[in-house]
Amino acid sequence: MRRKLAAGNWKMNGSVSALDMIGALKLKHPECPCDVLLCPPAPLLTHALQNSASNPIFIGAQDCHAKESGAFTGDHSAAMIAEIGATHVIVGHSERREAYGETDVQVAAKAQAAQAAGLTAIVCIGESLEQREAGDALDVITSQLARSVPDGSSGKTLVIAYEPIWAIGTGKIPTMEQIAEVHGLMRIELRARFGADADNIRLLYGGSVKPGNAAKIFALDNVDGALVGGASLKAEDFSPIIEALA
Ligand code: G3P
Repeated sequence: MRRKLAAGNWKMNGSVSALDMIGALKLKHPECPCDVLLCPPAPLLTHALQNSASNPIFIGAQDCHAKESGAFTGDHSAAMIAEIGATHVIVGHSERREAYGETDVQVAAKAQAAQAAGLTAIVCIGESLEQREAGDALDVITSQLARSVPDGSSGKTLVIAYEPIWAIGTGKIPTMEQIAEVHGLMRIELRARFGADADNIRLLYGGSVKPGNAAKIFALDNVDGALVGGASLKAEDFSPIIEALA
């Protein structure tokens, strides 16, 4: 049985004081109904870990380098993320693919480095509006999934986030049928590659998830949670999304 996951990606937003929202999240159930993860910008990771000490929440990074160390100014390795106590790292977000030209091969190398360091890699994939309108969405997803996910991945070391690029920060979301179709396809592809363990890999939807639409998205087969951008910045928005997973 896959445990649900509510993951927040703060992107380049937030501050030390904004991390106070962790204490305000509604996670105080005797047993938290789902896993909750927050991925703030790298300079805030240590503060986030301190704030999360008394809360059942995981802290993750938004990117890592594929190499363990070296002359890569501005980058950080998966081992560094793991050493401070973070548990997850997002790789292959479309914003990085677009702004830094990251390819599927590079994303897979980052995911592999993350897994080798003991982290869970959250691999992001998703089609552009042009690809969706051209009827190529499923081919794009199949190809990105095959190339961005490293061999040897498992339900413990891999989470996939399906983020249609045109739904990110736009307030637009695909139809429920479209989300279900993509998530069903991803499950089939993962089963073909990883066998029975594919059923332990969590598949998140990301793109304009809000308190008002979370419950109906989470009700879909093979949607195991969400990767949330803007609505993860404040407890008043993120808490109802977490609770919709319960
Ligand atoms: O990684 C999360 C993301 O790209 C979705 O952002 O703001 O549309 O929830 P947002």
